[in-house]
Amino acid sequence: MKKVGIMVGRERTFPRAFIERVNGRGAGVEAEWVKLGGTALDLPNPYAVIVDRISHEVPYYQLYLKHAHLQGVTVINNPYARLVEDKFTANYIAQQQGVAVPRSVILPNKEYIADINSESLSNLLHPLDWQAITDYVGLPAVMKPAVGGGWKSVSIVHSLPEMIAAYDRSGQLSLIVQEFIQWDRYLRCICIGRQKVLPIAWDPNRPFHERYRTDPGYLSAELGARVVDEALRLCRGLGHDMNTVEFAIRDEVPIAIDFTNSAPDFDVASLGEWHFNWVVEAMTDLVIEKALAHPPVPTLTWS
Ligand SMILES: Nc1ncnc2c1ncn2[C@@H]1O[C@H](COP(=O)(O)OP(=O)(O)O)[C@@H](O)[C@H]1O
Ligand SMILES: [Mg+2]
Repeated sequence: MKKVGIMVGRERTFPRAFIERVNGRGAGVEAEWVKLGGTALDLPNPYAVIVDRISHEVPYYQLYLKHAHLQGVTVINNPYARLVEDKFTANYIAQQQGVAVPRSVILPNKEYIADINSESLSNLLHPLDWQAITDYVGLPAVMKPAVGGGWKSVSIVHSLPEMIAAYDRSGQLSLIVQEFIQWDRYLRCICIGRQKVLPIAWDPNRPFHERYRTDPGYLSAELGARVVDEALRLCRGLGHDMNTVEFAIRDEVPIAIDFTNSAPDFDVASLGEWHFNWVVEAMTDLVIEKALAHPPVPTLTWS
C-alpha cells in the first residue's frame, strides 16, 4: 500500500474530503495526516507523496519537506521551487513563457536589520528616481510585497505622494510597484498537476466567500482556451502542481496578476460546492497517479 500524507494549517474541509476521497478509491493508496515532531537525518520517510498546505507558515515543516524531497517523496508543491519563489521573478518567468504581465519595478527596501547602515549600502543609488518609476509603471499603481499573500500590505496608489507614503510604510518588505491593470473581467484559475485548469469568474471586490462566480458565458471559447494554455505555461514554468492563477482581462488580453499561490485557499466556503468537488477530485487523481508512479529509489537531487 502506497502512503500519501497531507500537512495542513487551520483548514479542515479540504483535507478531510481529500483523505476520504483518496481512501474511498480503493486504488492501493492510503491517505492520512502527516504526524511529525523532531526528524532524524537517517529516518526514512514513509510517504510516496506529501501534499503541503502550510509549510509557508511553519519553518520546521520546510526543512522536513526538503529532506523528504531528497529522499524521493513527491512533495506537492516542490519545496525547493516554492522557497525560491517571489512575485518579481515569477513575473519574469511569465514573460519568458509568453504570458503578459503588468509593467513592474522591484524597489530597494525602506528599512533594514539593525546591523545595516548607509556604509553597508554602497551599491544603492540615492535618492530613488520616483519620477522615472511612475513614468514606467503609470498611475494608478499597485504596491505589494514580492513575497507575500493574503492581500497583506497591498496598496493602490493614485499619485506620487501616495506612492512614496506607501513605500515609507513598507519597513523591511521588498516591494513591487506595478502598473494597475484596468480590467473588464477577472478570473481565477485552479491549476492541478500542471495538466488540469478550471478557470472561474472571480470578483476581487466582493467578500471572500462571494468571490467565485458561476457565469458560463464569461469568456468566449477562444479566450477560455487561451487562458487555460497560459495558466499551464505559468505552472510549468514555476514548477507548481497545485496553484491558483489570476488573470485580469483587458481588451481581450489576459494579463497574469497573482500566480504564485502554492497553498491556495481550497475551503468549501470560498470555492462553493461544485468547484470544491472539482478540486478534491483533481487532487485525488494527481496524488494517486504520483503515488503509483513513485520511484522506489531516492532521487537525491534538488531539481
Ligand atoms: N497589477 C494589478 N492590477 C490590478 N489589480 C491588481 C494588481 N495587482 C494586484 N491586484 C489586485 O489586488 C489583489 C491582491 O494582489 P495579489 O497580487 O493577489 O496579492 P496577494 O498575493 O497578497 O493575494 C489581486 O487579487 C487583484 O485584485
Ligand atoms: Mg492574491
